[in-house]
Amino acid sequence: MQKIMDLASIGAIDGGGCARLALTDEDAAGRDLVVGWMHDLGLTVTTDVIGNVIGTWDVGDGLPVMTGSHIDTVRTGGKYDGNLGVLAGLEVIQTLQEASVTPPRPISVGIFTNEEGSRFAPDMLGSLVYVGGLSIEDALDIVGIDGARVGDELERIGYNGATPCPGFAPHAFVELHIEQGPVLERTDVTIGAVTGVQGISWQEVTITGQSNHAGTTPMSMRKDPSYVASKIAVFLRELADRYKGDQVCTVGKIDLFPNLINVIPAKAVLTLDVRNTDEETLSKAEREISDFILSLSRSEGVEISTRSLARFEPVIFNPEVIDIVEKVAMSKTPSVCRMPSGAGHDAQMLARVCPSAMIFVPSVEGISHNPAEFTDPEDLVMGTNILLQVLIELSNIEEFAS
Ligand code: GLV
Ligand code: MN
Ligand code: MN
Repeated sequence: MQKIMDLASIGAIDGGGCARLALTDEDAAGRDLVVGWMHDLGLTVTTDVIGNVIGTWDVGDGLPVMTGSHIDTVRTGGKYDGNLGVLAGLEVIQTLQEASVTPPRPISVGIFTNEEGSRFAPDMLGSLVYVGGLSIEDALDIVGIDGARVGDELERIGYNGATPCPGFAPHAFVELHIEQGPVLERTDVTIGAVTGVQGISWQEVTITGQSNHAGTTPMSMRKDPSYVASKIAVFLRELADRYKGDQVCTVGKIDLFPNLINVIPAKAVLTLDVRNTDEETLSKAEREISDFILSLSRSEGVEISTRSLARFEPVIFNPEVIDIVEKVAMSKTPSVCRMPSGAGHDAQMLARVCPSAMIFVPSVEGISHNPAEFTDPEDLVMGTNILLQVLIELSNIEEFAS
């Protein structure tokens, strides 16, 4: 708990949250603190070319079992999202060391770069590059919302490491994370054994119209990007209502230019975040949205261009690892359920190269990406104890069946 609070004091914002956008000075200070803790535990620490930091407790034989997560946050983030997974990994190692218990394999804890994707898209960038899903050259060239380039920012904060990517494929990967949604709390369940992660589609839409006087321009003569942006936002909401089930859609960012009360904007730039657990439904939603955008550009006389910022298909975790998470959790509490993740996670990338799964603990009122994010310390302890046991069980497995 002290480590969570100490890390949360870096980039602290009103309401008890954190602003440590990826590769900012605050992110760097957070990294320095956690890397110091890795050294305190005697871990071998490497930094790779995309800035992922892997701390390994070099005991036992063979490939390490890996845990970890991210310590970057959204601009209005909480104390737990990501941070819990990294700090719980260190807590597990410290606990084993203090108890003189040596696992049969090394244990690695990863801090993955830019999981959030709020500053640089796509999200899960560090783990994506780690598993070879994106070349390092392309990753370093990504430009963020403030015009900064990933490669320049990595160098500036001193986390442009030398270890090449793709990194080694661990024996297995398990990530402890807060749920960030309401399901566990609503159903009064303490632990989620996570079965997979829903698919995600991020797009940036740029609408170019004609800037003009707000008082003199007849409604019939307008080419109004703000109206078109609003239509798109409403369409997304109604699409999600129509699809029901697991469909979620968000317009989280709208920028208008010049953004003045009495000027019809020249341009609007907005982001679309569309997610579903089912790939076919997600693709159908994308097609509907793109048809709607095309028809709007014709009817409203504006130019609209779109750019994909992230596209990841739904991921199903390894059944053996899910079983182990569930079994270990059940040995500590009867309050366990299987569930998919609504949020994106580094584990979904690691799942491409090794058997992977996740452990969820409840988020009070389902609130996350918000300074008010909170998880009961008892649940954090429960989740961390389960993580410890799962890592031991995974390191005892010689070979996975799938
Ligand atoms: C990553 O945090 C996401 O937006 O799911
Ligand atoms: Mn997270
Ligand atoms: Mn997050």
